[in-house]
Amino acid sequence: MAEPATSSSRPRVLSGMRPTGKLHLGNYMGALANWVKLQNQNQYECYFFIADWHALTTDYADPSQIAPNSLEVMLDYLGAGLDPARSVLFLQSRVLQHAELALLLGMSTPLGWLERVPTYKDMQENLSTKDLTTYGFLGYPVLMASDILLYQPDFVPVGQDQQAHVELTREIARRFNSHYKGAAEREVLPEPKVLLTPSPKLPGTDGRKMSKSYGNTIQMTDPEPVVRQKLKTMVTDPARIRRSDPGEPDKCPVGDLHKVFSTPETMAKVYEGCRSAGIGCIECKGWAADSLMKVLQPIQDRRAQFTQPQVIEILEDGSRRAHARAEQTMCEVRQAMQLTLSTVREAGAGGQ
Ligand code: TRP
Ligand code: SF4
Repeated sequence: MAEPATSSSRPRVLSGMRPTGKLHLGNYMGALANWVKLQNQNQYECYFFIADWHALTTDYADPSQIAPNSLEVMLDYLGAGLDPARSVLFLQSRVLQHAELALLLGMSTPLGWLERVPTYKDMQENLSTKDLTTYGFLGYPVLMASDILLYQPDFVPVGQDQQAHVELTREIARRFNSHYKGAAEREVLPEPKVLLTPSPKLPGTDGRKMSKSYGNTIQMTDPEPVVRQKLKTMVTDPARIRRSDPGEPDKCPVGDLHKVFSTPETMAKVYEGCRSAGIGCIECKGWAADSLMKVLQPIQDRRAQFTQPQVIEILEDGSRRAHARAEQTMCEVRQAMQLTLSTVREAGAGGQ
């Protein structure tokens, strides 16, 4: 194993999200809540960012929402409990080294690796209204590899949907390291490990997986009346047609929400009441809304404490810190790739 590139004693963690707009409960449970936990364990040096250039790979024709969405996502990060005093929170486009490393990694990344990425063809077909036959879209995984490797992290906490991308990042790093060596033969871009986020099944209001593209989400910012309203229309166990029909929480999307958000006591009441037709779905959904609001209210309260100028300042400051760390890696990369004139002088002088 290669030595870590810096002397910091804590293992480093890095992850990010595309700024798709306000985050929903699926984003929270599938990623953000886990990041907050990692941060608060105090064992890791944490970097979390907003991948605004990645949003351009699909939205290049209309970039107008990317900056406002980035601010919303940062507010959701802060509301969830990411803390600029404990984590480096930054914006990808404010750290130009992401582009530099992506360009350099692109030189040695075989086209076949990119064409084989499972999401590549899928997304081209699913987003058929957009022309995704672009260089940038194909190169998405190279940019992502650059985002990661630039910080030489030990772990990348992601959900299962991103696992293939991190695996490819490891291959890109391996190939780089086989071509170029750092000082004292050290690996310049160590291969990070995936830290798989346990993601509980989180259904949207229509019972399918909660996803922005299905329009079935509960937003982290939804106020209580909206949460209650959305739950009222949420699908339930289809076997429970009348109030007198018994139901089965294990076959009900509302039951799945209870499993994620409710206390064991509430769960017990749900199982008992549903199976015996002792409670109605309206009452059950009210309890689910209570449980959701216990999680969401503190997030919304914290979110409301930040003004827009403060959020911008947090991002600018975090990006400065990220920039300094990224530049450290890039110095090693440029040396290893012999892109510095000093390598010429040393070689000319018969140097080591
Ligand atoms: N691809 C990720 C997503 O769609 C976002 C992302 C970009 C990312 N670069 C990253 C995640 C680096 C982790 C590490 O959500
Ligand atoms: Fe679902 Fe609750 Fe209705 Fe049972 S009582 S079917 S768990 S909503």
